[in-house]
Amino acid sequence: MFSARLIERLTHANSVAVLTGAGMSAESGIATFRDPGGLWATMRPEELASMDAFLANPELVQGWYRHRREIVEEAQPNPGHLALARLEAMLDEFTVITQNVDNLHHEAGSQNIIELHGNLTRNYCASCRRPADDAELSIGHCPICSGLIRPDVVWFGEMLPEGAFEAGLQAAVSADVFLSIGTSAVVYPAAGLPLAAAEAGVYCAEFNVQHSAIADRMDEVVLGPSGGTLPKLVEMVATGRGW
Ligand code: APR
Repeated sequence: MFSARLIERLTHANSVAVLTGAGMSAESGIATFRDPGGLWATMRPEELASMDAFLANPELVQGWYRHRREIVEEAQPNPGHLALARLEAMLDEFTVITQNVDNLHHEAGSQNIIELHGNLTRNYCASCRRPADDAELSIGHCPICSGLIRPDVVWFGEMLPEGAFEAGLQAAVSADVFLSIGTSAVVYPAAGLPLAAAEAGVYCAEFNVQHSAIADRMDEVVLGPSGGTLPKLVEMVATGRGW
C-alpha cells in the first residue's frame, strides 16, 4: 500500500505538511466536486459559487450555501481526518492546508489548519464585513447596514484569504514530507502547493482513489479511500515513533 520509504521518512520527520481536498470528506458523506455525481456534475460553479451569481440571485446562492451547511453540520470527521489529527500530535511541526470548507479538520482535532477556501460555518456581511450567524444568512440581510449576508468561502475569481497561500507555500517547501490527499489538483493556486513541494525536493505522496493531475510529480501514489489508507499509515508511523 505505501512504501517503506514513506513510513521511514514520516517516522523520522520533524515537519509534515498536507494538502486536503474534497476526497478527504467523501467518506463523511459530503459530495466531492468533480467525481461522477459530484456537485459540479449537477450544477455549474459559476451559477452558484461566484460573486456574479450571488449578486444576480442572492436568495438562490444563500439557499444553496445554507443547504451545504446543513449537510456539513450533519457530517462527522471520518477516520482519515482523525488520523491526521493523531499524526499532528506526534510531530514538532504539522500543517493541514485544506481546500475544504466543511470544518471537519477542526472537528477532528487538528490544530494547525490553513483554510485556503474559507469555512462554510462562518458568514459575513458582503458590505460592512461584520460576522453574521446562520440565522442572518437565512434572513439574507445585515441588520446593521442592510447589506447582503454571504458565506465565508472563496468564490471563483476571488482572492484567497490574506496570507493563506503564502503560509501554505512556506509549510509545503520546508516540510520533510508532503501529502496531497483527496484532491484532483486542478484548481490553482492550491494545486501549486504539491508541485512547489516536489520542486523543493520534499518527499511527496498522493493519497487518492485515482491518479490526479499531479500524480506523476509525486514520489509515490497511495491508491485507496483516505479514510482507510491514512489510519493504516499513521498506525505504522506511531509504532515506529514509539507512540
Ligand atoms: N479518498 C481519497 N480521495 C478521494 C476519495 C476518497 N474516499 N473520493 C474521491 N477522491 C478523490 C477524487 O479521485 C478526486 O481526485 O478526491 C478528488 C476530489 O476532487 P474534486 O472533486 O475536484 O475536489 P477538490 O480537488 O477538492 O476541488 C478543489 O475546486 O470547486 C473548487 O473550491 C472547490 O475546493 C474545491 C476545489
